[in-house]
Amino acid sequence: MDNKWQGLQDHHAAGAPRILDLFAADPDRATRFSARADGMLFDYSKTGLDDRALALLLDLARVSGVAEKRAAMFAGDKINDTEGRAVLHVALRAGEGEEIRVDGADVLPEIRATRARMAAFAEDVRQGRVTGQGGPITDVVNIGIGGSDLGPAMATLALAPFHDGPRLHYVSNVDGAHVADTLKGLDPETTLVIVASKTFTTIETMTNADTAKAWMAGKVANPGAQFAAVSTAADKTAAYGIDPDRVFGFEDWVGGRYSMWGPIGLSLMIAIGPEAFDEFLAGGRAMDRHFLTADFGRNLPVLLALVGIWHNQICGHATRAVLPYDQRLSRLPAYLQQLEMESNGKRVAVDGNDLPTHSGPVVWGEPGTNGQHAFYQLIHQGTRIVPCEFLVAKQGHEPGLAHQHLLLVSNCLAQSEALMRGRSLDEARAIMAKKGATGAELERQARHRVFPGNRPSTTLAYAQLTPFTLGQIIALYEHRVFVEGVILGLNSYDQWGVELGKELALALQPVLEGKTGTAGKDGSTAALVAFLRG
Ligand code: F6P
Repeated sequence: MDNKWQGLQDHHAAGAPRILDLFAADPDRATRFSARADGMLFDYSKTGLDDRALALLLDLARVSGVAEKRAAMFAGDKINDTEGRAVLHVALRAGEGEEIRVDGADVLPEIRATRARMAAFAEDVRQGRVTGQGGPITDVVNIGIGGSDLGPAMATLALAPFHDGPRLHYVSNVDGAHVADTLKGLDPETTLVIVASKTFTTIETMTNADTAKAWMAGKVANPGAQFAAVSTAADKTAAYGIDPDRVFGFEDWVGGRYSMWGPIGLSLMIAIGPEAFDEFLAGGRAMDRHFLTADFGRNLPVLLALVGIWHNQICGHATRAVLPYDQRLSRLPAYLQQLEMESNGKRVAVDGNDLPTHSGPVVWGEPGTNGQHAFYQLIHQGTRIVPCEFLVAKQGHEPGLAHQHLLLVSNCLAQSEALMRGRSLDEARAIMAKKGATGAELERQARHRVFPGNRPSTTLAYAQLTPFTLGQIIALYEHRVFVEGVILGLNSYDQWGVELGKELALALQPVLEGKTGTAGKDGSTAALVAFLRG
C-alpha cells in the first residue's frame, strides 16, 4: 500500500511558510481557513497550513476512510473491534423519529424510556419529592471516576449559571481525603449519593461508595434509600442494595468517556434540570448533524482533527494546550485528557501492527488568563512549540461585568496574535534603546526580549456558554478524536493501557498490609514499600 503520509511529510520537509507570510499573500485567509457550525466559528488560519497542506490533509482523511467509518459508527456497526462492540454514544442524543439498530434491534426506545425515568427522578429530587430522612435533598454526591466523573463534573461547573437544583459534589479519587473533605459539612439526612460506574466494579468508586454508606449509616436508618446508581451492571447494583427504581442503566456500547449524554449525566440533570439537559443533548445532536453532512473542508470535527494531525504527526509537536478563556470551562482540559488520551494514546493499529506514526498527543491546559501568569512563558519563548487551542465566548453571563469579559476576550486574541507575530530582534533592540541601553548590554538584553513567533494556534469562538453550546463543544471534540483515530488506524474505543497498573495495585495491597512479602518485586518497589510501611 502507498504510504499515505508521504505527501504531507514531503510538503512539510520542503519548509512551511511563516504564518504571517500566508496572511500577507492571501487577504481572504481568515475566511478560507475557518469554518462555522450552528453559530460557532472555528478559526485555524493562525497555523502553518497552506492550500497544499490542507488539500493533502483532506485527501488523507478520504483515503483513511473517515466517511465510511463515520457511517459505520452511526449505523451501529461494531467498530470497537477489540471488544466486539458498537460505539453509539451518538444514540444517547439522537432525535425524535430516528432509528439506530444494534444486532437488528432499534436501541432508541430504551434510551428514551431511561431518559424519561431519569427526568422524573431528577425532577422529584429537585422539587423535594424524593427526600432524605431529614427532608428535601440539599446535596447530591456523585461518586465515580474517569468517564463516570469527569464529564458531569466538568459540565456542572461549565453550566453554573443554569444550576438551580441541589448542590452537587463529585468524589472520584480513592484517596480518602477526597471523600472525607467532601462529606465534611454535609448532612447525611439530606444527602443523596449517586454511585456512577459503568462496570460497578471500579475499586475507587466502590470504596468511596462504601465510605459514604458508612458515613450515612451512623445517622440514617436506611442509607440505601438515599442511594441511586448509574451502571450497565444491574445485577451488581441490586446486590449492592440499591432499589431498581433508582438504577439507571445503559448498554456496553457507550464508552465511559463518551457517556455523559445518558444516565452518567444524571447528576448534571439534577443540577440544571431536564429541560436544560435536553438543550445540552440538542447541541450534541446539532454537531452530529454537522459532522455527518458538512463537506470535509467545512466540517469542524474533521478540520480540528486535521489540524491536530498536522501539528502532531507531521510537524512533530508532541503536546497541545487547550486554553479556554472561559473560567467555567476550567475542567475541560482534564475532561479532554481522558477523552483524547485514553482514546488515541495507543501504539498498535487495529490490525495489530505498530502504528507507523506517533499516537495522539499529550493534551493539557488551564483557563486563560490564569495560564498567562504561569506557563505561557514557555509557550512564547521555550524551545518546543506547543500548538494552542483557544476557546472564547462572545458574551459572558455577568451583564454587570461586561468590562471584565472584554478584558478576557482581548487577552485571548492578544495571545494568539502574539504567538503568531512574535517580536523581532530589531524590535527588541528598539525597545532597549528607548530604555537607554547601549552597546553589548543593549544587545544582551534585547535577545531576552525576542519572541520567535510563528507559533500556531486555533480559536473556537461561540456566542455564549449555554447547555446547547457545551453540547456542541463536547460532540465536536468527540468526533475530532474519532477522525484522528481513524486516520491513525487505531481503535479509539478500548483502553487496555489502564489494566496493568490496576492489576499491580491489587497485587500490592497485601504487600502493603504486610500479609505477603516483596519477593519478586524490583528493588525500587521493595524499597518504597519498606519506607511507606515503616
Ligand atoms: O480508567 C479506566 C476506566 O475504565 C475508564 O475508561 C472509565 O471511564 C473509568 O475507568 C471508570 O469506569 P467505571 O465507570 O466502570 O467505574
